[in-house]
Amino acid sequence: MSLLDYFSKDGFRREEFVFDTIAPVYDFITMFATMKYSKAINQLRKHLPIGGASVLDVGCGTGQWARLFKELGATRVVGIDLSGRMLARARRSYPDIEFYKVNAVDMRMFEDNSFDIVTASFVLHGPDRYNRNRILSEMIRVARVAVVVHDFDSRPLPFFSRLVENIERSHYRDFQASFLDDLRQFGYGVRKVELRSHLALYILNKRMRVG
Ligand SMILES: C[S@@+](CC[C@H](N)C(=O)[O-])C[C@H]1O[C@@H](n2cnc3c(N)ncnc32)[C@H](O)[C@@H]1O
Repeated sequence: MSLLDYFSKDGFRREEFVFDTIAPVYDFITMFATMKYSKAINQLRKHLPIGGASVLDVGCGTGQWARLFKELGATRVVGIDLSGRMLARARRSYPDIEFYKVNAVDMRMFEDNSFDIVTASFVLHGPDRYNRNRILSEMIRVARVAVVVHDFDSRPLPFFSRLVENIERSHYRDFQASFLDDLRQFGYGVRKVELRSHLALYILNKRMRVG
């Protein structure tokens, strides 16, 4: 990959370039955010059992979110990501988790309903709305019980977060404006759990059909 990929119209090439580039320092620069992951997952456990579940983590990066599911007793945890360099770090840190280089818009390597929980942490605010919904529909297809998205809520982001998102050229504003409505359009029960620091858990329950 080269610097030209940062300016590519193909959002996935850009994401791969950005995360390949920052992989060596990713855990350091996100240290304060990832420290809050345990609290978020404890909130999630109030709504969804994790022990004994199989879990697919989409856009797993260096594995910081995926590892919590393993620690809480998930039987099988699989992580997928676009960035080979993020995955290399994840594999080194968490050898008991399976990691694959896959673009989440096409997860045909996984059958329908093949994981109890399919999750994505800080991934879906990145792509544009069209690609976000493609990823979301793949996540819902592969999930048996629930889809869990850990990401921004609709509150305005602080300056530093906006700066990072603008450098990353993410679609966070559109995500904040439209994600909840888009998620509800799949026709399943959706619960939004507000967390501190402009974050939320979005839990789609595949066992609950609505509308
Ligand atoms: C901000 S990082 C979050 C990493 C991890 N989920 C966490 O919470 O620490 C976003 C990750 O999503 C990955 N990603 C973005 N779009 C993707 C796609 N279409 N398919 C797979 N991975 C993707 C990026 O490569 C990056 O590693």
